[in-house]
Amino acid sequence: MTGKLGKCMTLDRFLAQCQKKHPQASGELTRVLMQLSTVAKIIASYARRAALLGIKGLTGKTNVQGEAVEKLDRLSNDAFIEAFEYVDIVGAIVSEEMKAPMLLHSGNGQKKYVVLVDPLDGSSNLEVDCVTGSIFSIRNFGSARQEDILHEGAQQVGAGYIMYGTSILFVYSVGDGVHSFVLDEEIGEFVLDHENIHMPDRGKIISSNFGNRLRWAEPARVFADSLIRDSDHAYSLRYSGALVADLHQILHHGGIYFYPEDDRRPAGKLRLLYECAPLAMIAEQAGGLASTGRMRVMEICPDSIHQRIPFAIGSKYEITEYEKAYARESTT
Ligand code: AHG
Ligand code: MN
Ligand code: MN
Repeated sequence: MTGKLGKCMTLDRFLAQCQKKHPQASGELTRVLMQLSTVAKIIASYARRAALLGIKGLTGKTNVQGEAVEKLDRLSNDAFIEAFEYVDIVGAIVSEEMKAPMLLHSGNGQKKYVVLVDPLDGSSNLEVDCVTGSIFSIRNFGSARQEDILHEGAQQVGAGYIMYGTSILFVYSVGDGVHSFVLDEEIGEFVLDHENIHMPDRGKIISSNFGNRLRWAEPARVFADSLIRDSDHAYSLRYSGALVADLHQILHHGGIYFYPEDDRRPAGKLRLLYECAPLAMIAEQAGGLASTGRMRVMEICPDSIHQRIPFAIGSKYEITEYEKAYARESTT
């Protein structure tokens, strides 16, 4: 049974307490977050039991991005869709695994939010029982038309991620700091782990796919080389293949994750709406930054729902240095 000194601050209790500070709040965002936390438990149980249930491996299909779809990508996507069938205030869902936004509750006038998801982040890790995650973004709903969804990240009303690792974590922000919860499997509830996480202003983690180093855009290469050469401040490389897990370490220890544009992917790899923008909100709410190298991620106005961008996220010091490397390139 959970209970540091007998206290058990579950996610729903924490949200109720936060809601009291905002008497005008309707509780609708709380309902969305609680559904997301239920999805977290469902996907966690799939991930834990994937080998036993025979749900590892590929479906044989490719998604709209041309990437191979894992069975767990499909099941996780279905878990998110199902959740919002029970929340009539969610009007549409956008997902990495679906070509177009899916309209929900078409006959209902109550629609308030659109939820954008990467249902399973780092899904290829699952094949070998390594860590995976989910990422979500909550925005105001206009309609399920793309033009009503394509707004800058600064307009998100909430964002977060779920990590399926040694513990199951639910990390979110609705603009009042970043809070993390750990699943207590004995009582089936997410319990407060860290309130108001603050990312160190400078860290020791560098996280990127160095196998691509020779293909990276020049400023990313220059930045990485100069960081590693800093003899007064040693960096450690950590790269898991799941952005959620890499960011989670950086949230606590500081440092930088970057996936820059390269000669095979001139626009970068990661998707703006359901990977980069929500994690950028988390980073900024924790005192960090997120950038393409040339601009703040939260200010990018998307041109399509599956748009990719070059992406760097982490502590103030490292992201500022990363941007300086890009600025130097444009002046030479
Ligand atoms: P997804 O599984 O949702 O497609 O995301 C994978 C992403 C990200 O989580 C990870 O950091 C990166 O792709 C890994 O890419 P490389 O294997 O190219 O390094
Ligand atoms: Mn992903
Ligand atoms: Mn994914």
